[in-house]
Amino acid sequence: EKGGYASFMLKEIADQPKAVADTLLGRIDGSGTLHLDEVRIAQTALREVDKVVVIACGTAFHAGMIAKYAIEHWTRLPCETELASEFRYRDPILDQRTLVVAISQSGETMDTLMAVRHAREQGAKVLAICNTNGSTIPRESDAVLYTHAGPEVAVASTKAFLTQLVACYLVALYLGQVRGTKWGDEIRTVVRQLSEMSGAVERVLGTMEPVRELARSLATHDTVLFVGRHVGYPVAMEGALKLKELAYMHAEGFAAGELKHGPIALIEEGLPVVVIVPSPRGRSVLHDKIVSNIQEIRARGARTVVIAEEGDEEVVPYADHLIRIPATPTLLQPLVATVPLQVFACELATARGNEVDQPRNLAKSVTVE
Ligand code: F6R
Repeated sequence: EKGGYASFMLKEIADQPKAVADTLLGRIDGSGTLHLDEVRIAQTALREVDKVVVIACGTAFHAGMIAKYAIEHWTRLPCETELASEFRYRDPILDQRTLVVAISQSGETMDTLMAVRHAREQGAKVLAICNTNGSTIPRESDAVLYTHAGPEVAVASTKAFLTQLVACYLVALYLGQVRGTKWGDEIRTVVRQLSEMSGAVERVLGTMEPVRELARSLATHDTVLFVGRHVGYPVAMEGALKLKELAYMHAEGFAAGELKHGPIALIEEGLPVVVIVPSPRGRSVLHDKIVSNIQEIRARGARTVVIAEEGDEEVVPYADHLIRIPATPTLLQPLVATVPLQVFACELATARGNEVDQPRNLAKSVTVE
């Protein structure tokens, strides 16, 4: 049941710290070593993998886009992420050394299932990341890593997405651990940082009132744009998808670097543009680039909604609205940066009088191609 919340979506957003913690439970030991016994693909086979292909749809696809950054960084294996509905129609190059990671909350999405079948027919090993025990995709895969989000009732995916991210990080770090990479020490450090992310998600949830207020103030707008770089780009796409499906508004997520190649022409006076800012620590070149993107957008009259780490003062002069998130390693930031976007979409949809748990024209699991 809704446990006192006005909608399942609100309850599921609030459940996220637990969902994240539950998905990590029993999989990490005190020394920062991962134990993924359920990944029943022999370690020798995992060492022979020479390419990873991630397939998924919708929100799960956005998790898969983030997985690509994590897998390539921590394993140095080439990784591509593809929409499941496109995958088998382009005759993809797959063989016994390809690891296919199929991400699906329901485990019943027909596009993803057909892509899994195609991959296995070509001899690839398939690892499913799934939230529903015993569903079709895990049954047809070589192995499954379950997300422990618990049942997700609202049509728009929230807590399942965060746990898909956790599972993708686990797979990336596990591949790094099994195969051994030059990032060995970094992997153990990140495993420990990952185990602290549930608390970080909890902290974000405690600071969402200004986000709700902002959402209500934008209820009569027609368009909202989202931009990000690196892992902030899929986060921007996810923010836009949530707004489309719940608020029925025109929303688009762009890679910030692409703005000047076309989309910047959309910007006009007062247009809300949400910018996901990477950590100023670590890959600071990313941060510098985003700061100049915010300036460009603002110079053209946009109303900037800036999501930035606590302590990032450089963005302050260019933010019409500033949403703070806890400092995290760059690759893990989507776990906290997505939460305000979920709250934003849910509140905006409610302000527009929409039913958030059952958006029009959508079904919870899409069992047709
Ligand atoms: C968006 C949403 C959908 C699903 C997509 C895949 O909020 O819920 O985009 O993410 O239909 O569904 P699963 O993960 O069940 O394969």
